[in-house]
Amino acid sequence: MRALRIHAYGGPEQLRIDDVPEPHAGPGEIRIKVGAASINPFDGKVLRGLTSGGRPLAQPIGLGLDGAGVVDEIGDGVTGVAIGDDVFGLGRQTQAEHAVLTSWAPKPASLDWGVAGAAGTVVETATRGLELLGVGPGSTVLIDGASGGVGAVAVQIAKARGATVLGSASERNADYLREIGAIPITYGDGLAARLADAGYSRLDAVFDVAGKTPIADLTGLVSDPAQVVSIANFSAGDAGARVTGGGEIDKAAALAESARLLAESRVVIKVQTFPLERAAEGYAAVLSGHTRGKIVLLP
Ligand SMILES: NC(=O)c1ccc[n+]([C@@H]2O[C@H](COP(=O)([O-])OP(=O)(O)OC[C@H]3O[C@@H](n4cnc5c(N)ncnc54)[C@H](OP(=O)(O)O)[C@@H]3O)[C@@H](O)[C@H]2O)c1
Repeated sequence: MRALRIHAYGGPEQLRIDDVPEPHAGPGEIRIKVGAASINPFDGKVLRGLTSGGRPLAQPIGLGLDGAGVVDEIGDGVTGVAIGDDVFGLGRQTQAEHAVLTSWAPKPASLDWGVAGAAGTVVETATRGLELLGVGPGSTVLIDGASGGVGAVAVQIAKARGATVLGSASERNADYLREIGAIPITYGDGLAARLADAGYSRLDAVFDVAGKTPIADLTGLVSDPAQVVSIANFSAGDAGARVTGGGEIDKAAALAESARLLAESRVVIKVQTFPLERAAEGYAAVLSGHTRGKIVLLP
């Protein structure tokens, strides 16, 4: 099968389409014929060697954390899913013709393959952040980095939970943030003053998605620094904020709940698709750090 791989760390020019053996589903896993798989910033970090601890690449590796497709193999112990079902979810080396998923949910029939392929990582991460923060009816929450993959979904899930949502982005994304239900605030120096001007000097929770704002600026917005949760600033704990890297919630349940919101168009994911052959263009966009919504590959 065809799979996107790298043989050396570097930029998008290192991406290759290789002919490799098909993977197989282990216990508790399923395999899909991939319809679409997204590019996450983590894939860009792998490509650039930022997750390797400084060691050179020992052998070629595949990329991709999530995807959507048709089930074509079922591992031992898996129930509730059949060959031929349409699913989306989280897995490994998903930017390929076939991939193994470790957590999944049925793909709503109304959902475009590109959107389903975009959803796995961002809906799980957004749900996790909002759960840890206890965001619900009546909460006022800032999503810092609201126009990207995780942020835009977090805005919409928080709205669906009945929260008042402030979203930070660059000025060019203000209309997009309004469209998805957030009160737009421009990020950067003076964020607290702009929030105060908009009438929001005290917040119940801050979800730091971009990891770019000094953490003290964010903890200063809430009464308890633990009401700041970051997914991208791994030293945020030094200031009393919480950092999450995964594992705190039931992933399949988060995917299933998000499938319902996606089917009802209460969560809308803006996607730009590229065929696998043009993966380098997609990676370049993700590496820019300013994508709106998600970049998705179609194998
Ligand atoms: N820990 C975890 O479990 C986990 C899971 C998923 C992702 N992540 C990490 O979370 C981060 C975000 O992921 P993503 O998929 O949402 O990324 P993304 O789609 O690339 O989004 C990046 C967004 O950040 C915004 N941004 C850039 N500079 C900013 C700043 N100074 N302040 C606030 N926002 C800023 C950009 O907005 P503009 O275009 O308007 O500039 C852009 O929309 C990445 O570092 C990723 O690796 C962690």
